[in-house]
Amino acid sequence: SAHSFKVADLVIELSLTQKAKPDLNNLIFGTEFTDHMLTIQWSSAGGWQEPHIKPFGNLSLHPACSAMHYAVQLFEGMKVYRGADDKVRLFRPMLNMSRMAKSAERACLPAFDRAELLECIKRLIQLDQEWVPKSDSASLYIRPTFLGTEPSLGVKKPSCALLYVILSPVGSYFSTGAKPVSLWADSKYVRAWKGGTGDCKMGGNYGASIYAQYEALDYGCQQVLWLFGDDHQITEVGTMNVFLFWTNEEGEKELATPPLDGVILPGITRQSILELTRKWGEFKVCERYLTMEDLRRALMESRVEEMFGSGTACVVSPVGRILYQGENLYIPFQEDCPQLASRLNKELTDIQYGRTHSDWSVIV
Ligand code: COI
Repeated sequence: SAHSFKVADLVIELSLTQKAKPDLNNLIFGTEFTDHMLTIQWSSAGGWQEPHIKPFGNLSLHPACSAMHYAVQLFEGMKVYRGADDKVRLFRPMLNMSRMAKSAERACLPAFDRAELLECIKRLIQLDQEWVPKSDSASLYIRPTFLGTEPSLGVKKPSCALLYVILSPVGSYFSTGAKPVSLWADSKYVRAWKGGTGDCKMGGNYGASIYAQYEALDYGCQQVLWLFGDDHQITEVGTMNVFLFWTNEEGEKELATPPLDGVILPGITRQSILELTRKWGEFKVCERYLTMEDLRRALMESRVEEMFGSGTACVVSPVGRILYQGENLYIPFQEDCPQLASRLNKELTDIQYGRTHSDWSVIV
């Protein structure tokens, strides 16, 4: 039985029809899809089958499918960007492949060759390359997905699985654009816990967050600020990692984000921000615990410069206000322009769109 599928075995069935490309100005995140998709089947008896690229369309799944019943499922989120030179680039895609392999292990889904999967994804992008928006703000979002397709209700390691990849042209994630977001911080709901799956990109983490997201809206806030523990550690915002740019307790200018201790999703944008700012060497860069009390005291003592979320979907997203224990905490910054968030957004998108040469870019 095959230990991994191989791009060399790819079977391509072209779509007979081509959908109209959407209007880039009115894109709603994740609602439009390209003409093709990649699907790869696995079973414990036969191993990995050959990868297929075929017309985008519905899946057929057994009603007992373990992804449906027990959330044996995971996904990735990455993007491909078209530069002014018309070249199409991925951003650090092997980091997504590796994270996907880790999520797969945690979900008891089979291992695969990460480089082969990336090559298959490149072939899919090449086929649907006209769908990579000719725009410096839009991109083509890539959604690798991995399901347990065990056709039984037993709670066990799946004996069959389906890995597939779909592509979706996207604009900016938030309808409000890059405006600062408001957050609802309450310990009532918990996103992740030690020993759980919060450090893996499993659908269940996100599905279980929706209820809290709507409670945040009821409180007049746009996103949840996820807290952890009795000391109300700041962990993530919405579906993003979180950064605080401040003067720490020792009086040092510091960019801080929570450490990867099991409750934090290891974001590619998070890692890239840490690596970029460490290379700048302009201030201390620290993976450390941050509690709501740390933040509240720092705000009182005017030591906070900026707070922002980071993710593939939005790059960086400044935080403007946090509702915590019935009190609004305002994050101060100059006009509509948090300087560090803007600079990071520019440096990252310059790399992604090929305006800055970088070995983080992988041309498709
Ligand atoms: C991201 O912020 O990049 C995400 O993970 C968003 C995705 C869950 C829609």
